[in-house]
Amino acid sequence: MTLILDRSAHQALLELKRVLIIDDEEPIRRLLGYMLQSHGYETVLVADAREARAKLEEQPFALMLCDVNMPGESGMDLARNTLSQHPNTAVIMVTGLDSSVLANAALDMGAFGYIVKPFESNEVMIDVANALRRRRLELENRLHRENLEDVVRTRTMALQQALDWLELSEKELRLSREETIQRLAIAAEYRDSATAQHIQRMSHYCELLARKYGLSSERCDLIRTASPMHDIGKIGTPDHVLLKPGKFTPEEFTVISQHAEIGYRILSGSDAEILKVAASIAWTHHERWDGNGYPRKLKGEAIPVEGRIAAIADAFDALTTARVYKPAFSLDHAVDLMTKHRGEHFDPELLDVFFASLSDITLIHDQYADQLPRTMIPES
Ligand SMILES: [Fe+2]
Repeated sequence: MTLILDRSAHQALLELKRVLIIDDEEPIRRLLGYMLQSHGYETVLVADAREARAKLEEQPFALMLCDVNMPGESGMDLARNTLSQHPNTAVIMVTGLDSSVLANAALDMGAFGYIVKPFESNEVMIDVANALRRRRLELENRLHRENLEDVVRTRTMALQQALDWLELSEKELRLSREETIQRLAIAAEYRDSATAQHIQRMSHYCELLARKYGLSSERCDLIRTASPMHDIGKIGTPDHVLLKPGKFTPEEFTVISQHAEIGYRILSGSDAEILKVAASIAWTHHERWDGNGYPRKLKGEAIPVEGRIAAIADAFDALTTARVYKPAFSLDHAVDLMTKHRGEHFDPELLDVFFASLSDITLIHDQYADQLPRTMIPES
């Protein structure tokens, strides 16, 4: 049994001088009582185990002197029970039987002494003093151990609180960073017809494709967080080009296509991994698998995977949502159109992986649907 006590309770236990004497022979009881009282101990005398148990429940004892052979419950059973239920009470067995077997059994059980009747006063007082000294050492040792455990517990709690705080700060920082990125991206997109939902869909399509393609979880998170900035370079595109509803002239196309380069220049040069990925996506999301994209006409795997992923996600979202110059195409039509450009515009393997997840794609599309009631308008 473990007892957690404060310092003052421990001190009271250390100073306790009350002794419980159990013997069915009254003269022995009285003799033991007299010896101990004359040495300054407080004594309580009882004749059997039942009475002894009642006294032990009433008040604490420093020591119990216990006869072995008594009517009713034996002294050995009483001692065993006391050592288990009242570990702050030391036990000395007192018996008329001088048996080494019994003595060893008593000591093994945890008794601190074994006195054989008839006894000398000195012999009893030496055993009592030894038992109480040993009890004191054990109590002090326990206090020390509990103090140590208390220190460890307090420090562990402080450490846990610090870790919780760090985790919370890190989470807040991450959320605020992601929100800042999204708001910046929305600000850039706000100039044309794209919506905040486009940013959300785009980033989730990118993340979905990255995961299904088998990129690391950390890379997928980076791609999800960074992809909303793919068109941030449009802030450098003049309104008359950006907002033109019809087809671009070759000169206008040259102007609009500069947004990839401008985005890259805005985002590049940082040591932050997220901005490195964002810069890469901004620079390469209009490259084509066959090398006919822009701005650098990169080909195949020379295009970073995040750029190839963003190209698919961006094109798919443009096709399946309404724009000022076109209605939303159905999912099937978008799949057909993009499949025709498999291996030309789009990385064929990535496109297959993307379209193998149509149910997930539909979930994202529906979850972040434009608030204007014009998305996924079935074609007539
Ligand atoms: Fe773009």
